[in-house]
Amino acid sequence: MKVVWDKSYSIGVKMFDEEHKKLFEMINTLDDSLEHGMFRKGIDLVKDGLLEYVVNHFMGEEQLMRSYHYPEYEQHAKEHRKTMRKITALMDIGPGGSGRVAGELMDYLILWREKHVKVTDSRLGEFLKNKGVE
Ligand SMILES: [Fe+2]
Ligand SMILES: [Fe+2]
Repeated sequence: MKVVWDKSYSIGVKMFDEEHKKLFEMINTLDDSLEHGMFRKGIDLVKDGLLEYVVNHFMGEEQLMRSYHYPEYEQHAKEHRKTMRKITALMDIGPGGSGRVAGELMDYLILWREKHVKVTDSRLGEFLKNKGVE
């Protein structure tokens, strides 16, 4: 399932929107690998780039939240930690499990896009916009 970024995913803060777009592209690359049955390759893509990108993205959001004393910081950061734990746990697999893991990872990322970007990040975006952040 491809994830196309559209306005409905915009949280109103340019830098984070750009990062989300990039993340969606990475999810699509993963999806391409899975469609072609290249599960191992998909997992490697995540290990080589997506994971690091996600960590940096989360850190960027959290830094801004702290700077502006975002009241929902704890809850938001908790979701980030949960996501990281989930992805890291999925990466920790033995041989032969890559098909299942890749599928599960994909499902998780799709869910993250709908729940975290559209809900949690949007709330943060709204808050930051009111603070004059664009
Ligand atoms: Fe976030
Ligand atoms: Fe985000």
